[in-house]
Amino acid sequence: MDTLHTYDVLVIGGGGAGLMAALHAAPRARTAVISKLYPLRSHTGAAQGGIGAALGNVEEDRWEWHAYDTVKGSDYLGDQDAIDFMCKEAVQSVYDLEHFGLPFSRTPDGRIAQRPFGGHTNNETGKPVRRSCYAADRTGHMILQTLYQQCIKNEITFYDEFQVVDLLLVDGRAAGVVAVELASGELHTFRARAVIFATGGHGRMWEITSNAYSFTGDGPAVLLRRGLPVEDMEFFQFHPTGIYKLGILITEAVRGEGGILLNSKGERFMEKYAPKIKDLASRDVVSRAIYLETRAGNDINGQRYMLLDVRPETVNRYAALDGRTRPDGSPYVVSAEEILSKIPDIADFCRTYLGVDPVKQPIPIQPTAHYAMGGIPTSIRGEVLADETGRVVPGLYAAGECACVSVHGANRLGTNSLVDLIVFGKHAGLNAADFAASADLPPLPENPQAFAGHQLAALRGGSGKERAAQIGREMRALMFDEVGVFRTEQGLEKAVETLQDLRRRFTDIRVGDAGKAYNTALLNAWELGNLLDLALVTARAALARRESRGAHARDDYPARDDQNWLKHSLAWLDEAGQVHLKYKPVTITHYTPKERTY
Ligand code: FUM
Repeated sequence: MDTLHTYDVLVIGGGGAGLMAALHAAPRARTAVISKLYPLRSHTGAAQGGIGAALGNVEEDRWEWHAYDTVKGSDYLGDQDAIDFMCKEAVQSVYDLEHFGLPFSRTPDGRIAQRPFGGHTNNETGKPVRRSCYAADRTGHMILQTLYQQCIKNEITFYDEFQVVDLLLVDGRAAGVVAVELASGELHTFRARAVIFATGGHGRMWEITSNAYSFTGDGPAVLLRRGLPVEDMEFFQFHPTGIYKLGILITEAVRGEGGILLNSKGERFMEKYAPKIKDLASRDVVSRAIYLETRAGNDINGQRYMLLDVRPETVNRYAALDGRTRPDGSPYVVSAEEILSKIPDIADFCRTYLGVDPVKQPIPIQPTAHYAMGGIPTSIRGEVLADETGRVVPGLYAAGECACVSVHGANRLGTNSLVDLIVFGKHAGLNAADFAASADLPPLPENPQAFAGHQLAALRGGSGKERAAQIGREMRALMFDEVGVFRTEQGLEKAVETLQDLRRRFTDIRVGDAGKAYNTALLNAWELGNLLDLALVTARAALARRESRGAHARDDYPARDDQNWLKHSLAWLDEAGQVHLKYKPVTITHYTPKERTY
């Protein structure tokens, strides 16, 4: 196979953002998608509960309310121009998905069904609003299937099982990428007028996570190595309801359908922490509440978990107490059949992994590392930014979880990951195609594969005493204990020091497999290097931020500090492993920061 390829637009990643970008770039630009997985295995497929958009199908809603909820959910760190743009565009984007053929769940009169989700409110009453458009509890799966079918229909070229390991920059402009073909182990050079990174998140640095094994932060790590910064890395979201010990996601839709969180005393503890919105408070608030209940000794059997109860008798009792009604005004009363029809996959997971039937027994849950608010800094147009002044890297774009626009700020609202990847994936694709239409094909650097080839050769040839699996285990435990839901100066200092040490030990690893074809040991080791770099940046940025905001909760600085910290961090990592931090202002348009109450 020829190992030099030329395109107008290259999309790196075959998840929702990548496929959306490719679909919108392809009509005007020769486009290819490079994905380390078969695209249908991408982590977008794990998104369950829905995509938020103010369609107002079952009750009054407005995109402005969605925007304000998102600003408030972000603890005022989200850029308000970008948030307005996203929430307004979300409405048409959902209809676009419908027209692409996405099989949404429906209301009795045939419109797209909508359910409540954490932090989404009617801004006038402060009560939960039904804004999440869903396909049972398989919304991400359906998005992925639908977009992939559209890409195939539009004859977009795919390089499946090609892992991108380097970005080529010439005179500060994107010129292409280098990728390993998994089947042969050969390096390929891809030359392009524009490159879009859509490589997903980096949650595999935590011990308990809802993230797929593939979420190793490849995009941000590759860009860091090329001297570009990452933004707001200290903000990583813990979803309150992962399956106990395994971290597999139990969708917030379970609470949207009426599920209640209970402690060992049988108390609905969210009444204490969010008296108005209770179990549907935003995720940072609920995750912290679970930890605080554990600290107070209210966990189940002293085992650091709580119960999520979606048995019909529980749902109906609390719905009556809350005065919850159906859209037609009748009391909200559900049967086991109705619950199971709304969350079929969750029921399956509970039976398979816990031996629990969720309509007969409560589900043991604990917070699970779920979503990176931080990532590659971009403009609203998806252009990658090189520094705190907003200088654009010509020809380079990013979208989806690997990017930081920033619409999620310090804490993302449930459903907004799918909104983000659909809206900004589309616009990254459109803007990259525009750029490619007027840009020359850049020259390649002299030896384009040298940098990546050197990294992989060093790993393959390593004869040291360390094992990647052991370093990975230590990193994940450290991140969960010291850079998790609650953080302290002491813990973060320990994390930074230990991560520096793990990075040193990483240079002394031995990869057992010296072969070329499907050398997953080699590529897993390379991915671990990415996670170590990003973990270090995360811990360092968290250590610097002496306040609590959104998902970044410091025991030693419990208050939000707008005076000093209403700003985005940008972090660079130098060759000696030192992290350099700079800051840039948050874009505030019309929502003045105030205290969050739920
Ligand atoms: O709870 C969930 O279904 C997850 C959705 C999300 O992260 O947006």
